[in-house]
Order: sequence, then C-alpha cells, then structure tokens
Amino acid sequence: METLQSKRMRTKLRIGIAGAGFAARLHAASWRRVSGVEIELAGACGRSRENLDRFAQAHGLRAFESFEAMLGAVDAVDICTPGATHEAFAVAALEAGRDVIVEKPYTGYFGPANAAEFSGLSFDRAAAYAAVRESCGRIRAALQRSGRRLGYAENWIYAPAVQKEREILEKSRGQILRQLGEESHSGSHAASYGRWRESGGGALGTKGCHPLSAAIYFKAIEGRTRLGRPIRPARVSAHSHRLTQLAGYVDEGTLRTDYADTEDYGQMHVTFEDGTVADILASDVVLGGVANWIEVFCGNHRTRCNLNPVDALETFAPSAAALEDVYVVEKIHPKQGWMKPAADEDWQHGYPQEIQAFAEALAGGTEPEAGWELGETASLTIAAAYLSASRGGADIAIEF
Ligand SMILES: NC(=O)c1ccc[n+]([C@@H]2O[C@H](COP(=O)([O-])OP(=O)(O)OC[C@H]3O[C@@H](n4cnc5c(N)ncnc54)[C@H](O)[C@@H]3O)[C@@H](O)[C@H]2O)c1
Repeated sequence: METLQSKRMRTKLRIGIAGAGFAARLHAASWRRVSGVEIELAGACGRSRENLDRFAQAHGLRAFESFEAMLGAVDAVDICTPGATHEAFAVAALEAGRDVIVEKPYTGYFGPANAAEFSGLSFDRAAAYAAVRESCGRIRAALQRSGRRLGYAENWIYAPAVQKEREILEKSRGQILRQLGEESHSGSHAASYGRWRESGGGALGTKGCHPLSAAIYFKAIEGRTRLGRPIRPARVSAHSHRLTQLAGYVDEGTLRTDYADTEDYGQMHVTFEDGTVADILASDVVLGGVANWIEVFCGNHRTRCNLNPVDALETFAPSAAALEDVYVVEKIHPKQGWMKPAADEDWQHGYPQEIQAFAEALAGGTEPEAGWELGETASLTIAAAYLSASRGGADIAIEF
C-alpha cells in the first residue's frame, strides 16, 4: 500500500466520478479549475448508459462499465450518486486503497435491503437512527483501516460567505448564541429526490444538511478558538411536513409536487453542548430561485452569510424572452421582473473552492476541513431530527 510519505509527494491525481447527473456536472467543472495539483479526470460511471455517454462526451471523459471497473483506474473516487449508494461506494473505494470524496448526504437510512414495500412515511425511526450510527461506524472503520483521506462534499463550508464569517469568528473570538439558516427552492430536479429509498429523506435532511453543517462548523470554529475544542450539537427537536401533498393544496403548477414518501418542509432546533442554539429551515416550496443563507448572532457581532441570492448584479427584464439564452440563477422561473443573477454561482456556493481544497488535501495527505467528522455529525443530527419529527418534536439526544 502507498505510504503516507509517498502520498505527501503526489502531484498528480486520477479522479473517477461516480454519477453523471447534476452534482457530477458541478464536480467535473470544479476539477477542471484546480490549480497546483495536476488532475486527470479519468472517467465516470453511471446507472443509465445513455446519460453516462452524454455526460462523458460533454466532459471528454471515459465512460466506465461499472464503479468497480472505474476503481482500477483512479487514485480517488468522487461519489456524486444518490445517497443510498454512498456508504457502499465509499467503503468499496477505501478498501481498494482509494481516496474518497462523497456528496451529501454523507450517509443515512434508506430502508431495509430488498424490502419492496418500504415507505418513507412509516418506518421505525429509532431503529433508523441506530442504523445511521452503524453506517457512520462502517465508513469510519474502513477509512481508518485504509489510511486514505475522505472529503465530505459539503460545499457550504467552502462558500466564501461562510469562510469570511469563519475569519470573523476566529479574530473576534465571538461567542455564537444563536444561528438561523435556510436552504430552500422550488424542488430538486433529480428523479431520486422524493423517493426515500434512494435519497434518504426530503427537505429536512437533504436540504437542511447544508445550513446545519455550516452551523455545526461555526460552533466547532468558535470552540476551537475560545476553548481549544469543538462545541458539538447535543440535542435536536424537529418537525416535518408534506405541504404539497395536503388535501387542500392549491396547485399553481409552480412547485415540484411528485414526492412519493418524503417531506417538502422541515425545521430543526439544535441545542449545542454549551446550551446555545441553531434553527434550521429547509423546504421545496420557495419561489424566486434558491434561498441559501445563514445568520450568526454573537455578543460582539452579527453576520448574515448570503450564499444565494446575492446582489452583485440586479437585472430587470419586462419579459422572460429577453433572457431566454441567459443562465440567471438556480431554480428561477420565469426569468422576468427584477432578478439577482449570479455572477459566478459555483463560486458563491463554494464548489470550486471545495474541490480545490480536496485536491490539495488528497495530494498532501492531510485531513480535509470537511471530512468524516462533519459528515457523521450532520448525519447523526439529521437521523435524530427525523426521530424527533416522528415524536411530535420531542427533544432527542445526539449520540456520537
Ligand atoms: N452539494 C450540492 O449542492 C448538491 C447538489 C445536487 C445534488 N447533490 C447530491 O449529489 C448526489 C446526486 O444528486 P444529483 O442531483 O446529481 O442526481 P441526478 O439524478 O442528477 O444524478 C445521479 C446520477 O447517479 C447515477 N446513479 C444512480 N444510482 C447509481 C448506481 N447505483 N451506480 C452508479 N450510478 C448511479 C445516475 O445514473 C445519475 O447519473 C445526491 O447525493 C445529492 O444529494 C448535492
């Protein structure tokens, strides 16, 4: 096996992307922007051959027959497939001696194997919480055995607005008393989203994970700065709803509604071990583009981190036709009236910075800032939140 010493000297990385959809496109574009480490995008694999071939052709990549075939030709795999595949792909890659990057959700509960009748609307959430803890343990054990690196692709950690607040927290030594954050839009494009078996949940977990992870990260930064150790989440109380599935829902045709067995609105109230709090909102019922932001309230400062929208540009179009060929901002429809087009949406969201940081960590044999620990903390908090929501918002302890 390659030693840490030889890893430190790696200047070239061969990357294989698992998946050929939305996240794979974002990651491929970001790998192309990496500097200082030579990146060879070795290829991709996917479930649908047609989509894979289209993706591979668009990005000049080799289309591998399978994940296993790809493993043989790469130094690291970048897992951009639905959540249900994350643990198996990550463990297989680590066991084959490969570094891993894994999209959100880090891991989760996707129902029992081979249970065709499984529904995300009715399962034992206490057992699911225990299963998520076991899944985290299996990934961590494989990581430790392998001596490789794992990057958890939580792009919010690398978003410039979040990194600026990290600097403010470190230099001001502020104490965070409360945080309020949201990730929302009008509904994911991915077919797997809306089917618990593949996604591991709806808005609460798979959108809420972003501001939740930023809140966990900020409290870790505060703790390390002031106390020499991270301040971790201790308890969570949550609610979830299926607003577009209500009997009285008035369908205006503006929101995605085909959620088989997942929630489209969720909120988590997280209490950290020092008694301070974070309130996280996540939904699929917001018009006008994505709403991604987190606000941090300290005794010595208050920061609103706007990931999207931001007002670097403000554009007015009396008719959507004028901007027909222009990408404005994620999930806006119609492109009409006053809008805040994203000047560089990937940059705002932290995608290229995240991949740059992973490239440097993998080449240098160092721990990525967003790694297994953040992935585990977010996944366990979310699993506890789903258990809480099933018990009418009861406070649930987060057990690491
Ligand atoms: N960080 C972010 O901002 C962000 C944004 C979107 C999606 N995501 C995450 O990325 C992952 C993928 O989401 P997406 O939106 O790209 O979905 P998508 O439906 O657009 O693409 C999923 C891809 O995975 C492939 N796939 C599915 N099962 C597979 C299997 N068993 N083996 C190989 N390939 C398989 C599909 O063929 C498809 O190419 C999800 O975990 C999602 O939560 C993250």
